[in-house]
Amino acid sequence: MTARVVMKLRVEAARLATPGVLHLTLVHASRPELPAWEPGAHVDLRLPDGRIRQYSLCGDPQDRRTYQIAIKREDAGRGASRWAHDALVEGAVAHVSAPRNNFPIREAARHVFVLGGIGVTPGLPMAHSLAAEGADVAVHFCARSAADAPLLAELSAACGDRLSTWFSAEGRRFDPRAVGPYCEGACLYVCGPQRLLDAVRDAADALGWPETSIHAEAFQATLDENFKPEPFEAKLASTGATLHVPADRSLLEVLRDHGVTMPSSCELGVCGSCVCGYRDGVVIHRDAVISVADRQDRIAPCVSRARVSVTLDL
Ligand code: FES
Repeated sequence: MTARVVMKLRVEAARLATPGVLHLTLVHASRPELPAWEPGAHVDLRLPDGRIRQYSLCGDPQDRRTYQIAIKREDAGRGASRWAHDALVEGAVAHVSAPRNNFPIREAARHVFVLGGIGVTPGLPMAHSLAAEGADVAVHFCARSAADAPLLAELSAACGDRLSTWFSAEGRRFDPRAVGPYCEGACLYVCGPQRLLDAVRDAADALGWPETSIHAEAFQATLDENFKPEPFEAKLASTGATLHVPADRSLLEVLRDHGVTMPSSCELGVCGSCVCGYRDGVVIHRDAVISVADRQDRIAPCVSRARVSVTLDL
């Protein structure tokens, strides 16, 4: 995996999609085309203090001239969204990476989406693309009210009667059983806050959905505060070198200490930048980005660890 190109993009348009969600249209100052992307992809937005935040691309992948992202203002957050809302006005420059896709459309006979609030952003181009192909798609969009539902008009135009809206303040709180019973070959995509992901997983489990058919994009990894890291050994398959990972250091840090070049971005287990392969060992997965199926041979070394030892495909 290579480091991602960072581009200086100009804010061509900035508008409030809802009172708390800023919708940005970004263009390159000189290049007519931006790197291609697939529905579900995100970009990294680099903040002035060096921090990085991921935002899903919510425009049309066929439109190579612009990227569109939507940023929810989190007044109780760590300041990234407040900075974006205040600083990214029309004409401002944003430092944005080339896209990466951790949430791709899967091969499936039926696609069911549950999107909560700003979780609409990856789901909109995915559902749009599938609906345009005539695929079997159902989309559930949950928000407090229609006025608080970002990109509702765009999602409605893309999905037509495949869209069900759930607005709690209007007397229609989302019922996760609405995903319906599992049918062979179906795929369930969930994007939104953790409580929505948990509720949908529980309901889907009760309705017979196999874990491997459920794909979630979380806003943050749920890290267990009671987790007690233990030291372990990491072996590099290419050289046979064995590195000791103490309890108070991440595997990513130790790899870097030993000269292994590792890309990273969030260092929180959500972006997928640092993910690499492993061959054997019992891995303690603590990320929110690697699918259940891929956990057999992929690890996010920024947050995940191993019991006793692991051999990395590095
Ligand atoms: S750096 Fe983002 S998942 Fe590891």
